[in-house]
Amino acid sequence: MRKKCYPQKSGIFRFVNLGKFIIYGAETACTQEEVNKIMESAKIAQKSWAKTPLWKRAELLHRAVAILKEHKAPVAECLVKEIAKPAKDAVTEVVRSGDPVSYTAEEGVRILGEGKFLVSDSFPGDERTKYCLTSKIPRGVVLAIPPFNYPVNLAVSKIAPALIAGNSLVLKPPTHGAVSALHMVHCFHLAGFPKGLISCVTGKGSEIGDFLTMHHGVNCISFTGGDTGIAISKKAGMIPLQMELGVKDACIVLEDADLDLVAANIIKGGFSYSGQRCTAVKVILVMESVADVLVEKVKAKVAKLTVGLREDDCDITPVVSESSANFIEGLVKDAKVKGATFCQEYKRDGNLIWPLLLDNVQPDMRIAWEEPFGPVLPVIRINSVEEGVHHCNASNFGLRGCVFTKDVNKAILSVMQWRRTVRINSAPARGPDHFPFQGLKDSGIGSQGITNSINMMTKIKTIVINLP
Ligand code: G3P
Repeated sequence: MRKKCYPQKSGIFRFVNLGKFIIYGAETACTQEEVNKIMESAKIAQKSWAKTPLWKRAELLHRAVAILKEHKAPVAECLVKEIAKPAKDAVTEVVRSGDPVSYTAEEGVRILGEGKFLVSDSFPGDERTKYCLTSKIPRGVVLAIPPFNYPVNLAVSKIAPALIAGNSLVLKPPTHGAVSALHMVHCFHLAGFPKGLISCVTGKGSEIGDFLTMHHGVNCISFTGGDTGIAISKKAGMIPLQMELGVKDACIVLEDADLDLVAANIIKGGFSYSGQRCTAVKVILVMESVADVLVEKVKAKVAKLTVGLREDDCDITPVVSESSANFIEGLVKDAKVKGATFCQEYKRDGNLIWPLLLDNVQPDMRIAWEEPFGPVLPVIRINSVEEGVHHCNASNFGLRGCVFTKDVNKAILSVMQWRRTVRINSAPARGPDHFPFQGLKDSGIGSQGITNSINMMTKIKTIVINLP
């Protein structure tokens, strides 16, 4: 019998024994004194790490990848237990996390191994009396704050660029997902990174968040999560920020689209990991003339999704917390009162919510604008591509979108009007992980992707040589 409320217990694990892989887990919360100590060690460790040759930094990253892949089973098991990620997806997350670290090591050696050389007489009025040399140097301590939905993958995408660039790294793992992240960090420790270089601060953001993000020892913040990021950006001061925040990724479907392809992409894009992905399809804007057919196709596929236990590798598993389930339910109830068409019966048991497609959603419904981060997908019927694009641009968010049509010209013309990144004929996604990834408006600041992250975590050092 399934338990009522699936756990995703917050960081109270003290000891986790997973066969040969044993690690002390997270305390409920680090104190401010502990945070100060961690920052001090991070500063000290960074100074000698910055002098460690690039090739050696890269070598250690490659070693960490090998160890992480070797321990993929226990780390994935943590993901299953902590955040209810379906078992197969949990293994994929761990394996997928190794590849960007290797790529970062290689890319880092290339882009940090190069500098620039400028001569002064290329500027009007100047003689050739000065040589300018520039190179990239580390910022110092990078604070990484990944979200619960990818506690391993979105942590390494911040850790690896920070380290290759010569920074030390303080990780604040998500409350749900802390143990998975700690196991992953342990793999880095086993690889031989020096003491103090990679540290973890566990605890609730509400308790230590401000102290950490406003700490004078932090030189750069990379954050993925919700609205908290906006508050952080207001308090953080003059340090570079890389943030990916709330979203409402849209899928526009034109009359000539391949509706089977669209339906398959909606299922994968909207319901994988129960809709708890920043890049999940969160609203469908479909041309009225093909809406009935599309809705029927999606309905048929929704009926085949399995719902239940994460260990049984079900398609739809419980959302991360009861409060998240309550929020989703609020959106559903609002849509009900305002007259949306329910394609399935709304069903909830604890924090498990059955997949739900809501048709005929209108702009006055919250679900048309807000992000459920769960398996509930609204359909808005439109009469022109402009209407769809207008809806997307009217949103506070601007991360991803997709458009389905066989007419490439039409697709490109519409894409140019969207204020976000758009995929043509496939559901939005972040990967491959070296692609640039950025949110506009309230969806974020700065750009991710391996090269962009390395650049953001470095500053330019300039030397000017005056010639006699
Ligand atoms: O932060 C982005 C994440 O939630 C989605 O990533 O790889 O599932 O497209 P992905």
